[in-house]
Amino acid sequence: MSVKLPPPTIEWIGGLDGYVELIDQTRLPEKLVKLQLRQVEPVWEAIKSLRVRGAPAIGIAAAMGAVLGVRNFSGTDRTTFLRAFDEVADYLASSRPTAVNLTWALSRLRECAKCEISADIATLKQRLLDEAKTIRDEDEAMCRAIGRHGQALICEHAGILTHCNAGSLATARYGTALAPMYAAHELNRYFRVFVDETRPLLQGSRLTAWELHEAGIESVLICDNMAGSLMQSGKIDLVITGADRIAANGDVANKIGTYALAVLAGAHGIPFYVAAPSSTFDLSLHDGSKIPIEQRDPDEVRSGFGCMTAPADAPCYNPAFDVTPANFVRGIITERGIIEPVCAKAIAAIFQSS
Ligand code: MRU
Repeated sequence: MSVKLPPPTIEWIGGLDGYVELIDQTRLPEKLVKLQLRQVEPVWEAIKSLRVRGAPAIGIAAAMGAVLGVRNFSGTDRTTFLRAFDEVADYLASSRPTAVNLTWALSRLRECAKCEISADIATLKQRLLDEAKTIRDEDEAMCRAIGRHGQALICEHAGILTHCNAGSLATARYGTALAPMYAAHELNRYFRVFVDETRPLLQGSRLTAWELHEAGIESVLICDNMAGSLMQSGKIDLVITGADRIAANGDVANKIGTYALAVLAGAHGIPFYVAAPSSTFDLSLHDGSKIPIEQRDPDEVRSGFGCMTAPADAPCYNPAFDVTPANFVRGIITERGIIEPVCAKAIAAIFQSS
């Protein structure tokens, strides 16, 4: 059975004079709106305001945005071009701090620009665009491989819990946490997915519930505070989430609330898996304590989606992510296979293996 995926989250349309087309995820599930972006500033804004979101997707957006930022460079001096590129890359990197895919993708482009020593500026610009498109294509291939490895974890009639949106919308296509579910569905396996709504910005209810419904996968939407009681009642066999950054020891930064789920899963003896491509690993960090955690506007908590749900001046805490220590994570599903147990040695081994 083939699975019905949403249209591609982000694409480059046309040649070097083309544009970035992306799904405006803030409009879902009400409307499927595609934006056409031709300059770097709207790409920065789209990342910041979560029109495009999810670690791999913002990496692709940053790479394509960087091309938009330098394609009108009119000089002929290579050093000046590289300096202009660095400025554009630094600007895009300032949009969101936690997902390492963003800086990883920009570093790939920086390297690409520096490698082409004899290329003229026109050739350099084309090489950067090719590299940005390659990052997009590689991401889709990695997601499909994550699905192939992860589907074996999903037994017939399983109850699976997921948090936020780590689906097709959050990647080039196919997703990370949702990839094993899509792959199991394609194998005609029956299972049910419980979807945390994911306060405050509701990526679970607005995006994951929509994606799974479109795909014909049975899903049940729950408020975040219902997960514990569901686990207690024996309805959850497996938890799979995505990741925004994974440190060398396996500590995982992901959407706020992930840590609480991992602790709950541990208390109930339920396996907690994380699905992520290699672009989400930050091996320069020994552990999760140094992962920068994005703090967002308190109004997202007080008055999200246009309705006051708290006094206008109520003090708020609004971190977008938390860090789950590696010891709560049963395994990490990557495009290279499943890392289990999760420890520095096993992570290093999988990266050295190819
Ligand atoms: O703030 P968001 O919506 O960008 O947060 C997204 C997540 O936390 C996802 O789980 C993570 O980026 C993995 S997406 C494949």
